[in-house]
Amino acid sequence: MNHTQQLVIKQFSTTFNNKPEAMFYAPGRVNLIGEHTDYNNGFVMPCAIDRGTYMSVGKNHNQSFRVMAYDQNQTLSEWSISDQVQPDDANSWANYLRGVHQEFLKRGFTFTQGYDFCCAGNIPQGAGLSSSASFSVAFATALSELNHFNLTPTDIALICQAAENNFVGCKCGIMDQLISAAGQKQHALLIDCRDLSSRSVKMPEQLSLLIIDSKVKRGLVESEYNLRRQQCEAAAHIMGVNSLREADLPLLTEYKSKMSDIEFRRAHHVITENARTELAAVALSQNDIPLLSRLMAESHQSMRDDFAITIKPIDLLVEIVSNIIGDTGGVRMTGGGFGGCVVSLLPHYLVDQVTQAISNRYTAHTQLIANTYICNAGNGAGRIDS
Ligand code: GLA
Repeated sequence: MNHTQQLVIKQFSTTFNNKPEAMFYAPGRVNLIGEHTDYNNGFVMPCAIDRGTYMSVGKNHNQSFRVMAYDQNQTLSEWSISDQVQPDDANSWANYLRGVHQEFLKRGFTFTQGYDFCCAGNIPQGAGLSSSASFSVAFATALSELNHFNLTPTDIALICQAAENNFVGCKCGIMDQLISAAGQKQHALLIDCRDLSSRSVKMPEQLSLLIIDSKVKRGLVESEYNLRRQQCEAAAHIMGVNSLREADLPLLTEYKSKMSDIEFRRAHHVITENARTELAAVALSQNDIPLLSRLMAESHQSMRDDFAITIKPIDLLVEIVSNIIGDTGGVRMTGGGFGGCVVSLLPHYLVDQVTQAISNRYTAHTQLIANTYICNAGNGAGRIDS
């Protein structure tokens, strides 16, 4: 049992004066390639990581859900299992879970038994590794299993995405929730966000998965994110297609004069990123690392120049890593942007050199200390046997 598992069990007993009956877990994720393509019905290729949110659970007699979030100053949120769900203004973290409950109710699921939850995680928070998606997915998985709703990982992901869209107010796509629910050990998933089908792609054994947290506080993330989504939808509308997935470069060129420069660039990123993502799955499965390297580099440039979601410290991290690994591995920003993390797949023997270079050069330029994590592709959400 790891430290976080022990913590939620102990805190559960202290908070609720009772013993937990079960534990649930959902992982965070890192996206290897395919950024801002999910809400455009495109391709993404993330993997779940071996860090996530743990929830210990036990029945109560209050006809309510009571949740204690250890990482949120051990605050507690409680709401009725059957009433119309209201937002918790004092504990904004609880709205991810209240939103999930509301989406269950909207779909006709009913609850007759109250439960207590104690949650904690070991994903760096606010770093763009989907700690909040893992929080919602762990809760939805617990509700589904405890009530024998028999939901699939895709059902769980759709409920959690709807909760974030409708209750929290972020117009996110499906990637984070789906990979958290459906991740597979040692594999990435190539997901087609148009029909939610997926194919698993084995991670290369000779490469390490390195995540570098820039430690830049992410600002304006939600408003910039929703704005990018609007710009993509506007570009699709101008071209007369339902989503940018239906567009290609010749169509975009044809409509170039009818759209703003910004709309053109946003669409250009999404169209080229979809092609790169499909090709990257081929590169990974054939162990063609030079090709993977080139695609990840192009993805980063496209996020920087066309989609305008990278920032200087992130570009610097990518440059530091890329100078060392060349075409023996790949590196790019991962996640929604405006700070957060860089992901690299690199030979094991270069990991020390890369982390050393980061601590020398990155700190000298930015006065920030980046954190590095070696992760493994892990399984998706589920009950943990104790
Ligand atoms: C965030 C969203 C995802 C996806 C990424 C960008 O993580 O939650 O749905 O859009 O940004 O690829």
